[in-house]
Amino acid sequence: MTTEAVVDLAALGEDFTRDPYPVYAKLRALGPVHRIRMPEGADAWLVVGYEAGRAALADERLSKEWRNAAPGLGVRQVSSGPTMLNSDAPAHTRLRKLVTRHFTPRRVEELAPRVREMTDALLDSMLAAPERRADLVEALSFPLPITVICELIGVPALDRDAFRQWSNASVCAPLLEDRMAGARAVNEYLTRLLEDKRAHPGDDLISALIHAADEEGGDHLSGPELLGMAWLLLVAGHETTVNLISNGMLALLGHPDQLAALRADFDGLIDNAVEEMLRYDGPVETPTYRFTRDPVEIAGTLIPGGGEVVLVALADADRDPARFADPDRFDIRRDARGHVAFGHGIHYCLGAPLARLEARIAVRALLERCPGLALDIHPAALPWRTGMMMRGPERLPVRW
Ligand code: HEM
Repeated sequence: MTTEAVVDLAALGEDFTRDPYPVYAKLRALGPVHRIRMPEGADAWLVVGYEAGRAALADERLSKEWRNAAPGLGVRQVSSGPTMLNSDAPAHTRLRKLVTRHFTPRRVEELAPRVREMTDALLDSMLAAPERRADLVEALSFPLPITVICELIGVPALDRDAFRQWSNASVCAPLLEDRMAGARAVNEYLTRLLEDKRAHPGDDLISALIHAADEEGGDHLSGPELLGMAWLLLVAGHETTVNLISNGMLALLGHPDQLAALRADFDGLIDNAVEEMLRYDGPVETPTYRFTRDPVEIAGTLIPGGGEVVLVALADADRDPARFADPDRFDIRRDARGHVAFGHGIHYCLGAPLARLEARIAVRALLERCPGLALDIHPAALPWRTGMMMRGPERLPVRW
């Protein structure tokens, strides 16, 4: 079953941006697939609920390739070059294989001491503020992930503020032209960076990708593929983790009993707390577009072929009572495993181990060093990032 008319999510304005969960839940009560108008303007098919959402994420009948998008949809590719995220198998398999080994849990665990160092340095600066107040996004959630990913892939003197503006704009700006302008600026920056790495290779991931051949096949990335890979890792590596730290801290500060439980047993609860943060208010509300090729039936609804956009509401899948009991309750002791905050199927997040590591270290260090940490704004007054893809506050004022 599906609602008959187009559900105009754009018309819900800021209320939907601030709290999309009740809207998704209402749609879910009507059925798993709905025709919607996105706040970004274009029409799409939205899949809600856990079972249908998870199945759609792994559905090979849906393509991630922009050449399969219908012309005149009102959406356009913003990222540059072919990337694993916008490729189907077998192109996807090849691109992902070239970097998988750099992101295994073991490899990522080696970064822990450095991530701790960076976290401590950021907290030193934050805690030096005489007024004992800060914007947590500015002080920790944003700079930590971008510093980590820049160091890993070898971006030495990135102009972080400018890069953040371009990258944010490319992902979240309400106007397509602003998203395109942001993406262009990111591309120009990365093109110069790649030229520089080619001339002066370093001990980093981009240099390794430029110069090393794949062990088995002697496979190299083409110029556009290299640009796409750098773009994807940089943007995916920080646009998301920033929201995990912010949304997670917001949930903890809004649930004093859960915060107290975590403070009383960091060793026992931090891993589980991070999984619950991902489930309860994950950074990605709906991941990147999928496109129909032939007509596809999803959970009883026939979606036309020819490049229609299909969106999966990860935010709703993880609040489905059919999968998680009492799903709107934030409970750091629950078994949150099986959540789809990192997606599912062949595009399952490559950076999941890194994101988990950063969140565990950041949340723990912050709470340990700020015993009296509290929210310094009414939650209803928080400004949220626009668009349906990313979910997170633009600012998170705290005091201690
Ligand atoms: C909490 C933080 C993060 C969240 C919630 C997250 C979420 C996701 C999701 C939902 C997808 C799948 C998108 C889809 O199916 O359309 C994805 C893919 C991806 N993520 Fe993450 N991500 C996070 C952090 C990172 C980090 C730190 C990196 C850096 C290496 C990263 C790199 C990637 C890449 C490369 C892909 C594409 C994988 C593929 O297509 O095979 N992510 N992420």
